[in-house]
Amino acid sequence: MAGSRFRMTRQWCWCITRPVNNPIIVALDVSTPERALDLARKLLPHVGAFKIGSELFTSAGPEMVRQIRGFGGMVFLDLKFHDIPNTVAKAVAAAVRLDVQMLTIHTSGGREMMKAAEESAQAAAGSLGTAAPLVLGVTVLTSLDVASISEVGMQADIGRQVERLAVLAAESGLRGLVCSPLEVVALRRLVPEELQLVTPGIRTADSRNDDQKRTLSPKEALGAGANWLVIGRPIYAAENPVAAAEQILKSIQSNEP
Ligand code: C5P
Repeated sequence: MAGSRFRMTRQWCWCITRPVNNPIIVALDVSTPERALDLARKLLPHVGAFKIGSELFTSAGPEMVRQIRGFGGMVFLDLKFHDIPNTVAKAVAAAVRLDVQMLTIHTSGGREMMKAAEESAQAAAGSLGTAAPLVLGVTVLTSLDVASISEVGMQADIGRQVERLAVLAAESGLRGLVCSPLEVVALRRLVPEELQLVTPGIRTADSRNDDQKRTLSPKEALGAGANWLVIGRPIYAAENPVAAAEQILKSIQSNEP
């Protein structure tokens, strides 16, 4: 039964609990800060949060986060930290001071690293009097196949490796995971129900798959147990990104399957 393997030992202070209003996180995978800010301003009333990844953060820097926070957008900082616990803890504290609402770390960094990240998020937020961001664990990158994970010495059964890391993440105190849409059902059975699942690989019936191989529609992913949907090209590359986001939201809210 969901949640039965774990007993939460403390009451978490959630800054993001269930995304009751809007589960769409738009990936701002665009090449210039100007385009990213223009998109974010236009999409603000239509989506739940904005994902800033390595490319945008490396080119535009923390100022991009400050600008989006400045006009009220929620920020998911997707830098996938993976380092020794002390370094990750400090990076997480810096992200808290930047006022992001979600951030990512690699679960393969191990138990101590994950615990340090979560504790740092709680402590830094506590000292600022804000809510801690959701520290999300990344399990096995979906770009890795059996051959490539065997090559680096990981368990060749990708599904089992994902589950193993997901359980370890929950035991280490993380409150969320990033996973592929096709992993949602299995993970929902395995991890506490409070744990937030964030999934990319979302495609609508009328959007192209691009390079995503394993996709679900927004409604299917939420039905399977995802809490948040990371959507990039179907929104930012649409002729009218606002209309595309609205259409996706409507499809989620409609009673049709
Ligand atoms: O354009 P698209 O909707 O495919 O974008 C998905 C976003 O989610 C991108 O920012 C991509 O880097 C990210 N992502 C992913 N698959 C993962 C982890 C993150 O597509 N396993």
